[in-house]
Order: sequence, then C-alpha cells, then structure tokens
Amino acid sequence: MAQVTLGEGNTPLVESTRVGISAGIESLWFKLETANPTGSYKDRFAAGEIGRVVGEGVTAVVATSSGNTGAALAACSARYGVRCTIVVAEDAPAGKLMQMQAHGAQVIRVPGFTVDPQLTSEVMDVLKRVSVERGMALAISAYRYCPVGMQRVESIGAEITGKVPKAHIFVPVGGGGLCSAVIRGCVGTGAKVYAVQPERCNTVVTAWERGVETIEAVQSSTKISGLSVPFDIDASLLVRLLKETGGKALTVSDEAVWSAQSRMLSEEGIYCEPAGATALAGALRARELGWIGAGDEVVCLVTGHGFKDPNSIRAAAGRFPDKKVEAGGLLEVL
Ligand SMILES: Cc1ncc(COP(=O)(O)O)c(C=O)c1O
Repeated sequence: MAQVTLGEGNTPLVESTRVGISAGIESLWFKLETANPTGSYKDRFAAGEIGRVVGEGVTAVVATSSGNTGAALAACSARYGVRCTIVVAEDAPAGKLMQMQAHGAQVIRVPGFTVDPQLTSEVMDVLKRVSVERGMALAISAYRYCPVGMQRVESIGAEITGKVPKAHIFVPVGGGGLCSAVIRGCVGTGAKVYAVQPERCNTVVTAWERGVETIEAVQSSTKISGLSVPFDIDASLLVRLLKETGGKALTVSDEAVWSAQSRMLSEEGIYCEPAGATALAGALRARELGWIGAGDEVVCLVTGHGFKDPNSIRAAAGRFPDKKVEAGGLLEVL
C-alpha cells in the first residue's frame, strides 16, 4: 500500500494583521494546523502511527485522547479499515466526540481521566494490558509510547523554519510531545522554542523553572481541552530538550487563553479552539516579560480548529449578540 495519509501537513503560515501591531510584535505569524483534514495537528501523528499499524498487519487500535488524537485516529482508521476504540475524558468537547463517532470509532468516556493523576495512570495501565492481550495497537500521541507517529509531527518545525529560520516559536503544551517534536524538527536552525502551559496544569513549567527533569504530578484543574495531562508522559523529555536547546517555558491562565482565542476570532479571522490560542496567550505574556523584542519574528502554533469546541466559540460569539428585525425595520437598524 502507498504511504498512509489523510492529506495532512504543509499547512499555511499566515501573518498577523492586527494583534501583532497592538502587542508590539512587528512580525507575528500563525501556523494554521487547523487546516489539517480533521482540524488539528494530530493528523500528522495519526498518519504515521496508523501507517505503522497497517504495515505490521494489525487491524485494531486502542487509544487515549482528549479528543483531537481520537478524531485523527478515527478518520485514519476509517480510511484504512482499522477498528478504533478511544478512551476520553468525561467532558471531552462535543465537536471532538462527534467527529470520532462519525468516523465509526467506539468512544468510551471515563470520569476523572486526564484530571486525577492516579486514576489516569490506572486507565493507561488497563489499556496497555488490553492492547497486549488482544493484539491491539496502543496509540498515544507521545514519544514515550509512539515514537514513529511522533516523528511525523517533527515536520511542523521544519515547515516553519523553512520559511522563518530564526523564528521564536510558541507551542501549547499538555503532555509535552508536540513541543518536543517541534524542537526536534528545528534542530540545526536558529529557531528558539517556547513551551506554553496552563498554570493549572503546570508540570513542565515547574520543572523547567526549578532546573530539574523530574516531573511532579499535579491535580489538573485547567479547562483547556487537550492541555490537561497531570503527570509525566513526555514532560521530562521536553524539559531536557528545552534545556539542551535554550528554549523557555511559561504558564498562562485559562482566562488569558480564552481572551487570546477571542482575539484570534475577532481580530485575526482565525477559527480555533482554546488550545489553539494558547500559543498566542504565551507570546503576549512573553512580550510583556521582555522575553521577546519588538523586532523578533514570532510564530504561534494554532493547533486545533474552532469547530472542535462549540461551547468556547459560543462564549466568544456572545460578545456580539444578533438582532431579529422585520424586513420593514431593516433601514432603521443598519
Ligand atoms: C489542540 C491541541 N494542542 C496542543 C496539544 C498538546 O499536545 P501535547 O499533549 O503533546 O503537549 C493537544 C493535545 O491533545 C491538542 O489537542
């Protein structure tokens, strides 16, 4: 079979029209991973991982996901005839759940998963056991479990530095796999990578600030879907890579993320979910802290599409209420 693909990658890099100017960043760019076929960067991972699975003659995959990995795996599995089961957090956003189900995956919601470190780790252990006993591939978008799929995510770094070699790249962080992949994709360039994590799930940032590689588990309370990973999966790897390459890490509040999402929507015309606006929240904070200067070339990764998380879009849309007007009254209100 030819290479497994959903048609992912080579996503657009568009320049900011308004937020950069008002934030004092002359050259601000957005890498639109939302343009991938299922609406997130996870398509790169899914194509690599399902490619491996199909190549090994395995016909079933079991995965954990906050929703985007699941949607990408479900689509890729549908395309290549693989049976797909996905365990997600109880409150995974509607758009992501619907996508997985529409592609025919079996979705299992587990209360406490991705929030409680102990419970999350127990769930992972059950899945590891099941995958071995039943001959299913275990798909988790992290180097710790699936290095083959993650290698395909490294292309993001190469695509950015091919256009902006000395970019300051801001990346949203949950488990840390994505940011690790971006760093690896930038090796040999002048790029510098910044890991941006919600302050209510700050595994990576705490370790980076203390200068240690040991990750302390946290009770996560962030509401940013996709970024709630309460213990070390690829976090220790990411802290090491940041240290080796001179990268930095910083937190942002959930409120700052929602505000950045709202600005992406209403000032940049970019339809993204909250996790997809986290990099911008980080870049704005880094500018305030003086970590980046006015003349630096800044790239924010927009990792997931707005349709994934309709509740967050509804909240942003609420700032601009509609009106119902009879045809005869139009002239008056226009
Ligand atoms: C939209 C989005 N952005 C960023 C991330 C973070 O990736 P990682 O968990 O590899 O740090 C995720 C993970 O699910 C995601 O769905």
